[in-house]
Amino acid sequence: MDQYVELMEHNKKLDRKQDIVPPSGQFTQVWIDDQRVDAVLGENILSVLFAVGKNEIAQNDHAKITGAYCGMGICHCCNVQVNGKHKMKACQTLIEPGMRINTQTNRLEEGF
Ligand code: FES
Repeated sequence: MDQYVELMEHNKKLDRKQDIVPPSGQFTQVWIDDQRVDAVLGENILSVLFAVGKNEIAQNDHAKITGAYCGMGICHCCNVQVNGKHKMKACQTLIEPGMRINTQTNRLEEGF
């Protein structure tokens, strides 16, 4: 990767500024809306989204943007796209290294 592209990738990194306690454990990196962010193995996607200040997470089938509501897998208000797969619950999906997470996506809008 040439230096310019590497620099641009670095500049697109999200910082975790809203953790209640400093994260600890084995770090990895994931991508949220094409921005790199540090994540801890064992935490769920919703935790990372909140840590970087993303509260408007999902787009429902009526094109409304929603935020997480229940945090325990019931309401479907936290559906995100993970590695190209739609309607993954952010609150119930654990981080995996290199995961690509897109918020505010909806498979209906993309024509699926
Ligand atoms: S916040 Fe309700 S299912 Fe995830």
